[in-house]
Amino acid sequence: MSKKDAIEALVTVGRNARLYCCMPVIEGITPVGLMESPASEPLETGEDFMRRHGIFRLNEVGISPLDHDCLYGDGVFEGILIYRGQVFLFREHMERLGRSLEKTSIELPYSLAELTWQVVRTIQAVGFSESQNGYIRLVVTRGMGDLGINPKKCVGSTIYCIVSTIKLYPTEAYERGIQLGLSKTIRRPDQSTIDPTVKSLNYLNNVLALIEGTRGTDLMESLMLNRSGFVAEATVDNIFVIERSNGWEKDPANVRVRTPSDEYCLNGITRATLIELARAKGYRVVIDPHLMPIEMVGPDREVFMTGTGAGVMPITHLHGVKVGDGVPGPVTRDLVKSYMERMADPKYGLGIKATRKQTLDYLGASA
Ligand SMILES: Cc1ncc(COP(=O)(O)O)c(C=O)c1O
Repeated sequence: MSKKDAIEALVTVGRNARLYCCMPVIEGITPVGLMESPASEPLETGEDFMRRHGIFRLNEVGISPLDHDCLYGDGVFEGILIYRGQVFLFREHMERLGRSLEKTSIELPYSLAELTWQVVRTIQAVGFSESQNGYIRLVVTRGMGDLGINPKKCVGSTIYCIVSTIKLYPTEAYERGIQLGLSKTIRRPDQSTIDPTVKSLNYLNNVLALIEGTRGTDLMESLMLNRSGFVAEATVDNIFVIERSNGWEKDPANVRVRTPSDEYCLNGITRATLIELARAKGYRVVIDPHLMPIEMVGPDREVFMTGTGAGVMPITHLHGVKVGDGVPGPVTRDLVKSYMERMADPKYGLGIKATRKQTLDYLGASA
């Protein structure tokens, strides 16, 4: 991608996006945009300070350079898809955010249900048409503190949520599949470093793995291994391998679906859906901590990756080596179709025009 393309992509995000922002009011520190904008409102939360929050354009408010998000990547996030007028698997994303917050001891100033409603308000401020897809980036940081790492010096969490239109992978990519690079030296750490099931802001390792695995190519994703050399995940997607054995067309039990265990990967929400769909089709799903990269290639193999942005994406080559026939396989194509149907099913999300009451009812929360 050229710098010109990168600038164009940024300008498009800026044109369409809205930003929800909520942070403590600290004299001389809280960005002026949040203090003075007519869109900013005071918020009493029972903490030892006032907060302000509101919905803005992207260039109206910034995060403080003293936020431990900027200084240390100290925060958690969710990436959520708006597809055909609904926030897909919204509840599941908010529940995972709740678990990430708990595991990192970052406190929300109000309930997860209230936060969900603020996200819905932000979506409504963008003004999506029914056919427009969108992306939500919801971030909760440990907040503003002094320049040291000590979390005890952070005053209270900062919350921000960017909602914008999104360009998904083109339809041809799902028909043709994509190629995956291989990050050989930079590995996915296990729970002893950062619990991979915490969706934290600390992505430097994944960024470096992506640089390594795609260097000199125009590939978009790269496979990461764990320290022992077993398959962990791609840099922002989970991995599945399909093994078809004789008679699989008549007996789905002859299809084995392997995906790495979440000791080494994010417990992806798309991954969970695919595990459910594969089991419902009668395939043998194996959560496998010992999947080797060499087992991803060769005849009768299929590979796909899953993620909120990518959906279910067939992989045709790994590090230049063909997977199966080098085209998306029949089991993958069937799973892609089932996943697309799931995305369009109103049972699996919340409509973007939801009222506050509908939002709380959807979450099973009280007003
Ligand atoms: C490291 C990593 N693995 C996997 C995924 C896919 O997870 P999900 O399906 O919840 O989007 C993501 C998504 O951002 C990710 O960052």
